[in-house]
Amino acid sequence: MTSPAPTAVSSSATQPILSLDGVTRRFGETTAVDAVSLEVPAGEFLTLLGPSGCGKTTTLRMIAGFEHPTAGRIVLGGREVTALPPQKRDVGMVFQNYALFPHLDVWENVAFGLKSRGDRKDVVGPRVERALGLVELAGYGKRKVQELSGGQQQRVALARALAPEPPLLLLDEPLSNLDAALRERTRDELRALLKSLGMTAIFVTHDQEEAFALSDRIAVMELGRLQQVGSPEELYGSPANAFVASFLGRANFLDSTLDSVDGDRAVCRLPGGAAWTAALSADAPRAAPGAPLRVMVRPEGLELAGTDAAGALPGRVLDRRYAGSATFYRVALDGGPEVLIHGRPHEASAGDTVRVALHPRAEPVAYPVEAR
Ligand SMILES: Nc1ncnc2c1ncn2[C@@H]1O[C@H](COP(=O)(O)OP(=O)(O)O)[C@@H](O)[C@H]1O
Ligand SMILES: [Mg+2]
Repeated sequence: MTSPAPTAVSSSATQPILSLDGVTRRFGETTAVDAVSLEVPAGEFLTLLGPSGCGKTTTLRMIAGFEHPTAGRIVLGGREVTALPPQKRDVGMVFQNYALFPHLDVWENVAFGLKSRGDRKDVVGPRVERALGLVELAGYGKRKVQELSGGQQQRVALARALAPEPPLLLLDEPLSNLDAALRERTRDELRALLKSLGMTAIFVTHDQEEAFALSDRIAVMELGRLQQVGSPEELYGSPANAFVASFLGRANFLDSTLDSVDGDRAVCRLPGGAAWTAALSADAPRAAPGAPLRVMVRPEGLELAGTDAAGALPGRVLDRRYAGSATFYRVALDGGPEVLIHGRPHEASAGDTVRVALHPRAEPVAYPVEAR
């Protein structure tokens, strides 16, 4: 691998802090990360989201320098770092299992990165104190890490990563070892703290709700490939493919055929004759009336309609699940799939014959049938 001589860090505000260009990592037959290209601007919180094994940790480890790409380039702060070891990159990392040193106390754990890069004693002290203060562990320096709770250990790991004041912070499933209640609180505190410091951060998670709560943008991965990058709203409202649609929230899929196209929208004909207008995904067929399409609509895009409602799809309620702010109805459409409908309490009961209509504000998306 060739690596040009490091160039000076540019202070241009428009230059991304991090660029990945076609980054690929193979382990024998496995392509863990497949030609990932991505730019992260300063101050952004980006989440790598995807199922277990999709390459999130490997991507993060390549950015930090613990793993090296088989192909592609990594540029950090305007400087190519593809072949550089971790200590030559200005990156902080919080590992999934924290990777704290059990034989060192809290203070020594937080001081570790500063000492190993050769910071002088008189700057190490104040930096450790400041980092411990940020995570609200001032006064815990002499404690052994095993004596701390899971939440406190997580904060030590965060303090250790923050102490060198890196321009980029990487966090690999930083909340996965915490119980549900603590996870939610820590998530909000983490976002507030890092935003107040003006940090640029990349989180890894397999949890869609966590990604929504933490991120400015989300990069969805599957099988080593980047599927889509966008704001939570873009990904939920306009998923690029069926995988993204079903990974981010609940998605109903219905078979249809293409009726007519107007720009990037299409009229889709459903079995039984109903016609729904849907946004066409980038790879959906546009010029072939009669072509099969899969229409995706969110549970809140469907509603239970009167039995005489025109254009509504007949079906039978399988069950009803009360979820506080909503009630979800599972309906088996006649001759069609099951759909999930976000409704109001007591609209129907299991066994009822109903009709399912598209909500007036629904924004269905049509995908090619071959697509996953
Ligand atoms: N050091 C390694 N040697 C061999 N295979 C690996 C290694 N690290 C990761 N992999 C494989 O690469 C793929 C992606 O792994 P990983 O990046 O850990 O995924 P994730 O963090 O999304 O769960 C998996 O198939 C995993 O088994
Ligand atoms: Mg992982």
